Amino acid sequence: MPTVHEMIKSSLTKKALSDVKIVLEGQYKKSYDLLCDATSVDPPLPVLITGPPGVGKSLLVRKFAIDTGRSVYEIFFDEIMKPQYLVGSHDPALVLKNGYSLETFEPGPLVRAMVDGGIFLAQEINRASPTVQNSLHEPLEERSYHLPRIGRIEAKDSFALVATANPAELAGVYRFTEALRDRLRVTIELTYPDKEIELKIMRMNSPYNKLPEEIYYDIYSIIRRTREMTDRVKKPASVRVGPAMAKMVALRVARGEDPHAALRAVAPHVLASIEVGSSENKNQLIKEIVENIGGD
Ligand SMILES: Nc1ncnc2c1ncn2[C@@H]1O[C@H](COP(=O)(O)OP(=O)(O)OP(=O)(O)O)[C@@H](O)[C@H]1O
Ligand SMILES: [Mg+2]
Repeated sequence: MPTVHEMIKSSLTKKALSDVKIVLEGQYKKSYDLLCDATSVDPPLPVLITGPPGVGKSLLVRKFAIDTGRSVYEIFFDEIMKPQYLVGSHDPALVLKNGYSLETFEPGPLVRAMVDGGIFLAQEINRASPTVQNSLHEPLEERSYHLPRIGRIEAKDSFALVATANPAELAGVYRFTEALRDRLRVTIELTYPDKEIELKIMRMNSPYNKLPEEIYYDIYSIIRRTREMTDRVKKPASVRVGPAMAKMVALRVARGEDPHAALRAVAPHVLASIEVGSSENKNQLIKEIVENIGGD
């Protein structure tokens, strides 16, 4: 029986970010081009991508990073995040032994991205405390950062900051400071994609077992209904729902199950991630939606 450390060792991968599967059409193509333009000017302009969960924000940035030969240094912001998580800090044990030096400093993702000329992907940036938001001014404006006890480091020319935010949060508790919002110079808004694009995303993500076309349409109509019920559904089905349903149905079809029956069986379980209004019964609402499959 291998130890857990042996198991971790044997799972270590040297694989670079592999090519991402992305439908680069419609809003995705437009957004991709904007991202390229914003980061091609000298110096690159900081970009904010807004969009609901699962709409393809991260995928778009990864695709762009691969195409331009940059690495992505990603971090998720929240209220308890501290500036040193971004920048890095000195290892106290090494400092005790040798005193402060560059060697005792463990760089954080922001500093790594700056010195490597990569993309600093600041996820949910609006959730950060004002202190953390303020700590981004210097790298954004000056493209440099003063590291205490080390000195000022300068970002490589290709260093770019791309931030993401969920538009539903921008007016609420998780607010941007005005100063940071003003520094994110190019805003790209992603919304739920058009029908044809969402169908392509489903097909692309279930290539091992193609489903009858009408099943993809049925899945889409389920998803669209959750998005249309704005008075009853608080958080509708994300783009992640389609590929997940298609994969589950394909598996059952491969085992000999009827595709329509398979869809009815799995749909409620994949749809369970939606959030409904406080006066709604979620299971009842999902049942209603699934029972209406193919109704249009
Ligand atoms: N344009 C697209 N082409 C192919 N697949 C897509 C596309 N957009 C979204 N998807 C599918 O949706 C999934 C979620 O995408 P992604 O992780 O980029 O969303 P996100 O906007 O970053 O979500 P979150 O806000 O939760 O971080 C992808 O893994 C993929 O299966
Ligand atoms: Mg993401």
